[in-house]
Amino acid sequence: MNKVVEARTKRTEWYRDARFGMFIHWGLYAIPACGEWLRGSAELTAEQYEPYMDEFTAENYDPKEWARLAKKAGMKYAVLTAKHHDGFCLFDSKLTDFKSTNAPCGRDLVREFLDAFRAEGIRVGLYFSVIDWRHPDFPHYGDMFHPMRNNPECSNENRDFDRYLEFMFGQIRELLTNYGKLDIMWFDFSYGDMKCEKWKASELIEMVRQVQPDVVIDNRLEGSAEDAGSIRTLDPTPYSGDFASPEQMIPPDGLRDAGGNPIPWESCVTLNDHWGYAANDHHYKSAKMVIRMLVDCVSKDGNLILNVGPNAKGEIPEESAEILEEVGRWMKKNGRSIYGCGYAGIPKPEWGRFTRNGNRLYAHVMEEQAGAICLPGMAGMVEKMRRVSDNTVVPESFFWNLKEYSENAFFALHFSSVSGNPGMISSYPLPDETDTVVEIFLKEDAQKPE
Ligand code: GLC
Repeated sequence: MNKVVEARTKRTEWYRDARFGMFIHWGLYAIPACGEWLRGSAELTAEQYEPYMDEFTAENYDPKEWARLAKKAGMKYAVLTAKHHDGFCLFDSKLTDFKSTNAPCGRDLVREFLDAFRAEGIRVGLYFSVIDWRHPDFPHYGDMFHPMRNNPECSNENRDFDRYLEFMFGQIRELLTNYGKLDIMWFDFSYGDMKCEKWKASELIEMVRQVQPDVVIDNRLEGSAEDAGSIRTLDPTPYSGDFASPEQMIPPDGLRDAGGNPIPWESCVTLNDHWGYAANDHHYKSAKMVIRMLVDCVSKDGNLILNVGPNAKGEIPEESAEILEEVGRWMKKNGRSIYGCGYAGIPKPEWGRFTRNGNRLYAHVMEEQAGAICLPGMAGMVEKMRRVSDNTVVPESFFWNLKEYSENAFFALHFSSVSGNPGMISSYPLPDETDTVVEIFLKEDAQKPE
């Protein structure tokens, strides 16, 4: 195995087991309340945008409450935006005055987040935007995304990109050295020729690894949601990242490198249609949909990081909290079909998904079936089965109407105690209509699906 891949595999072990995380997009943009891109998409000047800082009170910010919610939902890690593209820092950076400690809230929000989540036993990460729309040395006019991209008065004549990089390195160093052990660094994002060594990525990774050798890093110093980068090749660069980061979608077959080897990945998905708080966006995904997305990711060997966008007071919207609590109720019963699980090595079944942890295969039944449910090609491989939620036994079905399909194994979710009456076999309604999970212990000596 290539050295970069070997180190990555080791570093991401906990991360690949964790499977479910919380993304938190929070910043000044919560005040105008239409998402984190506002300054860029509305082409606001600094004079129009920065006064929001005077209103940033974060008066109800209680990260312990956030952490309890994440834990309840079954999330094993959380990533907070320490700084987004607008340049506003939720931490006490010595390199800028555009930060939460200078706003009315006067608090280092990052430090409080880290303390609270660690206390709940949740792994912690920070999102850091390598784009900074506030820094004078970051390209303005003609850049693809800068708020002043169309303003010729903001030409780039006296801008010194190296000076910007020094600032960027400095802020990253602050985060890496002043806040204890970080589990994840989530850099965002690369575009056009603003990628790789333009960010001095090799040097940056070296610096990061020197301070925090085990931190798991995303792929966006090089890749993006459009193109994962060299993490998908057999010769990944040192800054190719530890995981790929598909956005607002779940890869149809998971993600593999050019040699067909699975690579770590994480779909980042919003709960409604915005990352940052958007007061009028009530287009929320249901808990059922979230659970099925999570199962889909795990069945394809990936993670799901689900976003919440707290409002300017520091409150996670109630709608989000309710969804997460409902997800949590399912996770509490069915978590062992998620954590530590991955590819089953069996094609996606008609009625749902498979996940797998070693010798235990999990059948996630999402669609009602008239009769028995088919485990394709698995005749003779099943040791025993039980429902994950309450451990009730699920017997293997060998009924007269299944005889012609003897290469397969079958089970039913409802069966009669009156033996031999095939009319009493059915798999509707689903005991859990979101996803009824059956745990299948595979016979040790059976030829295992790969
Ligand atoms: C995009 C957006 C950004 C968001 C991120 C999350 O790259 O620029 O606003 O933070 O995706 O994945």
